[in-house]
Amino acid sequence: MLKGRTIHVCVTGGIAAYKAVELTRLLIKAGAQVQVAMSENAQTFVGPLTFQAITQRPVLTRTMDPSEELEIGHIAFAQDPDAIVVAPATANSIAKAALGLGDDLISTVLLATNVPVVIAPAMNTVMYENPAVQRNLSLLRDRGWGIVDPGSGELACGAVGPGRLAELETIVRSVNDAFSAPCLVGRHVVVTAGPTREYLDPVRFLSNPSTGRMGLAVADAARSCGARVTLIHGPISEAIPDGVDATEIVSAQDMYEAVLHASTDADAVFMAAAVADWRAPEVASTKQKKTTGAQKLELVRTTDILATLGQDRQQGGPLLIGWAAETGDPVDAARGKLLRKAADLIVANDVSRADSGFGTDTNAVVLVSRGTQEELPVQSKRAIGDHLIRWLAATLEAEK
Ligand code: CTP
Repeated sequence: MLKGRTIHVCVTGGIAAYKAVELTRLLIKAGAQVQVAMSENAQTFVGPLTFQAITQRPVLTRTMDPSEELEIGHIAFAQDPDAIVVAPATANSIAKAALGLGDDLISTVLLATNVPVVIAPAMNTVMYENPAVQRNLSLLRDRGWGIVDPGSGELACGAVGPGRLAELETIVRSVNDAFSAPCLVGRHVVVTAGPTREYLDPVRFLSNPSTGRMGLAVADAARSCGARVTLIHGPISEAIPDGVDATEIVSAQDMYEAVLHASTDADAVFMAAAVADWRAPEVASTKQKKTTGAQKLELVRTTDILATLGQDRQQGGPLLIGWAAETGDPVDAARGKLLRKAADLIVANDVSRADSGFGTDTNAVVLVSRGTQEELPVQSKRAIGDHLIRWLAATLEAEK
C-alpha cells in the first residue's frame, strides 16, 4: 500500500532519532517517496545530511528560513503528503500536538496538516507513564491519529520498562494501516490459524507443518480495517499481530470449543487453520512403550468445525470462509467443500507448489464461491489477506 505514496517523516529530539534513519530507508524500500523534517533537538542526535543522502531530497529543518521557505515549505510539507509519521515522538512534541501549539517546525507542520498522522512515542519510562503524557496520547488517538505504542525493555537512560521506540516494522505496518479503509469498524471477525496437535500419549502427537502465516495475515488485515479480531491458533512460533485477541489451543476439540464460543456474535469466521481430521479415541495417560513389529493406530474423526458452523449459516450465522489445501488442482475439491460445509467462500490452494502453501511467505490461490471463481496469482500472504478482507467487507455490505 505504500507504493507510490508520499510519506513525510518528522524526527523529534530523542536518542531514538538515529532509528528514524532506518525507518526512512524501510519506507523507501516499501515504495514510498519520503521527505524528512527535523526538530532542532533531533539534529543534535543525527545530522540532516544522513536523511538527505537516503531520501535524495532536502531536509526541512527550520520554519521561516529564507532558503527553505520559498513556497512556505512547512505548509507544503504538512499538506502535500499522503501521510505523516512522527518518529520518534518526544513527550514535548506529543504535548504540543495535543494542545495545538505551533512554536517550532514540527508542531507547526502537525498543526497545519489534514492528512493521516502516525506517531511513535519514545521516551524514558517514567515520562511515558506520566498521566499528562498518557492523557495527551489519548487526545491524539481520539483525534484519529495512529499511535504506535512503544516497546518495553532496557532504555538508553538505563531505566527498564515501556518507552523504547516500537519495532520499525510495526511502525511501517501502522503507516500502511493509515491507508486501509475502516471498512470493518464494529464488526467481529474470528480467524483460526496454525496446526492442531492430536496427542496419542503425553509425548507423541499427530500434526502437520502449518506455520499459521496465512491465518495471521488475515487476522492482521481484518484488524487494520477496524474489526475486533479473535484469533484462535494452534502451536506456532510466528509473532501474533498487535491488537488481536489471541487464544492458543492444542487439539481440534479445543479449537472447536473456542471457535463455537467466539463465533456467537461474530460477523465472519475464517477457518485458515489446518485442523487435524483424526485423533486417537483416548489419549493414553502414560508414555506408551514400543512393541516389536508393526504398530496399528486406531483413529476416530474430529468434529468438523466449519461444517458445524455451516449448519447455522442459513439461520443468520456468521459468514464462513474455509480453505482447501490440495496437492494438484484444488478447484474441484474446493467446490465440493463449499457445498458440503455450507461455506460462503473456499480459498483453494495447491500446497505442492514451491511458492505457496505451508511455511512460505507467498501464496497463489483461487477464491471459489457459489457460481464464481477468482484466481489470485502468487503474492504475499498479507496481500491475499487484504484481498479476502475486501471481499468480506463487500459481502457484508451486500447482505445489509
Ligand atoms: N476444518 C474444520 N474442522 C476440521 C477439519 C477441517 O473446520 N475438523 C476446516 C479447515 O480449517 C479448512 C477446511 O475445513 O478450512 C478444510 O477442509 P477439509 O475437508 O478438512 O480438508 P482436508 O482434510 O484437507 O481435505 P479432504 O477433505 O479432501 O481430506
